[in-house]
Formats: sequence, C-alpha cells, structure tokens
Amino acid sequence: MSIQIDLSSDVAVVTGGGSGIGEGIATLLAEAGAKVAIADLSAEAATSVAEQITSKGGAAIGVEMNIADEDSVRRGLAEVREQLGPVSVLVNNAGAWTIKKFADTTDDEARRVVDITLLGAITVMRAALPDLLETQGRIVNIASDSARTGEHSMAVYAGAKAGVIAVTKSLAKEVGRKGVRANVVAPGTTVTPGSSAFIEQVGGADKLARAYPLGRLGAPADIAGAVLFLASPLSTWITGQVLSVSGGYTMV
Ligand SMILES: NC(=O)c1ccc[n+]([C@@H]2O[C@H](COP(=O)([O-])OP(=O)(O)OC[C@H]3O[C@@H](n4cnc5c(N)ncnc54)[C@H](O)[C@@H]3O)[C@@H](O)[C@H]2O)c1
Repeated sequence: MSIQIDLSSDVAVVTGGGSGIGEGIATLLAEAGAKVAIADLSAEAATSVAEQITSKGGAAIGVEMNIADEDSVRRGLAEVREQLGPVSVLVNNAGAWTIKKFADTTDDEARRVVDITLLGAITVMRAALPDLLETQGRIVNIASDSARTGEHSMAVYAGAKAGVIAVTKSLAKEVGRKGVRANVVAPGTTVTPGSSAFIEQVGGADKLARAYPLGRLGAPADIAGAVLFLASPLSTWITGQVLSVSGGYTMV
C-alpha cells in the first residue's frame, strides 16, 4: 500500500516562484500534479521556471507580477484564471529584506520591506480570496523564524513577517467555516540566491550550520515539503498554524 499526494485538480499560484524557495515550492507542487502559476517580478525568471517544469511533463505558466502593485496583482491573477482556472492553492512566498542595523535603516528602506513583505502578501490574499472561497482553497504563507525569535540587523523584516503570521491566523478564523484554510511555514536559513549575502555576513554556511540541531542549513526542497503538506488533503484539520522548518533551530 502507498500514499499518493494528488493535487491534479488544483491551480496553485506561487509568488516569487522564479528563484530559491519559491522555485522549489512551484516544482514540488507541479510534481504532485497541480497546475502551477509562477508569479514573479521577473517575467524572465518566472518563464524559465515554468519551462523547466513543463519540460519534465508538469503544467506551469510564468506570470509577471509585482506583489507591491495592486493593478499588477489583479492583472496577474486574471491571467492565471484565464489560462489555468480559479486559484485553489495560494503560496505567498515573495518577500524583501535589508540587512542593516535598526538605527541605520532609513524610512524608505523600512517602507519597501513592509510594502513587499507584509502589504504585498495582504494584497495577493485579498485579490485571490473570491477564487479561494469558490474552490475551498488553501493559503500557505512563507514567513520566517526571525518573526518568532528576532534577528540581528533584520528588525523591520522580522516585524513584517510577524505581521504575515498575525494576518494569516486572523484570516484563518474568518474563512475556516467557508472551507478555506490558511497556515504559515517559517523557514530557518535556507540556501538560495536571496540568502547568500546574509550567510556570508554571519561567517558562512558551515559556521552557521553548527547552530542547527540537524547540522545543516535548509534547501528549497525542505521548505517545499512542508508547503505541500499544508496544501494537501493530509492537513485538512490544520489551520492558523505556524510550522517552523528550520532543522530544529527554533523550537517554540
Ligand atoms: N532564504 C532564507 O534563508 C529564508 C529564510 C526565511 C524566510 N525566507 C523567505 O522565503 C521567501 C523566499 O526567499 P528566497 O531566499 O527564496 O529569495 P530569492 O531572492 O532567492 O527569491 C525571491 C523571488 O521573489 C521575487 N520577488 C521579489 N520581490 C517581488 C515582488 N515585489 N513581486 C513578485 N516577486 C518578487 C524575486 O524576483 C525572486 O525571484 C521570502 O519571503 C523570504 O523572506 C527565506
């Protein structure tokens, strides 16, 4: 006997799916049979990930989307509906950060981080909500363990991600009885193009990995496995939760 996770009746949108963790999530959801829209600021990156997926027999499209711009979000989601159907799995993965001491962070830098990381996720959730209600959908938001533990030189980012967690829990309470679930995956340090500057700044991957009980940093596939679980029928009684995927670094 074997268990299969079958998302073949799902349409998934992965924001920031053109790189790193988002690319890993889009690839795994497609392997589980979902039709996947890779929504990214970079149309080129989105198309390239979609082509990799379709070349292996999966169903995917690339969609240009700036999550910090409501018109762009609405246009992108309309394209997804037209090409693939209504969204049933929304993964808010795109985010932005600066690595700077709090006192040195300018208002403009802080605003950019909040605009993309928190308000961007809110805009995409609001725009996709009619589809999610229609499809009894699932939201999986990518926060960060920094929102739970705090992180040196990433205070505004940690605050924006804490906002993502609070919004997700609140929305889960509003839409649970309507059949929509919303959960959060909180990664620890995961090796991606986006995290390389942070990893270098704290002394490199080998040094950082010593703080992780499982002895290594994360890979996008580690995060994707948790997202697949929360998007799948294996988690039908789980909503409003935060799952740390961090090799045991954060135990709360
Ligand atoms: N890598 C880590 O260690 C780590 C740890 C905790 C949380 N996270 C979170 O995981 C998510 C992915 O991080 P990553 O390391 O894979 O990053 P990454 O830089 O490798 O990829 C991010 C992708 O998001 C896209 N993007 C950026 N701004 C966008 C916008 N406004 N609209 C649409 N797309 C946009 C980029 O073009 C890029 O393709 C982020 O939310 C990040 O905060 C990452």
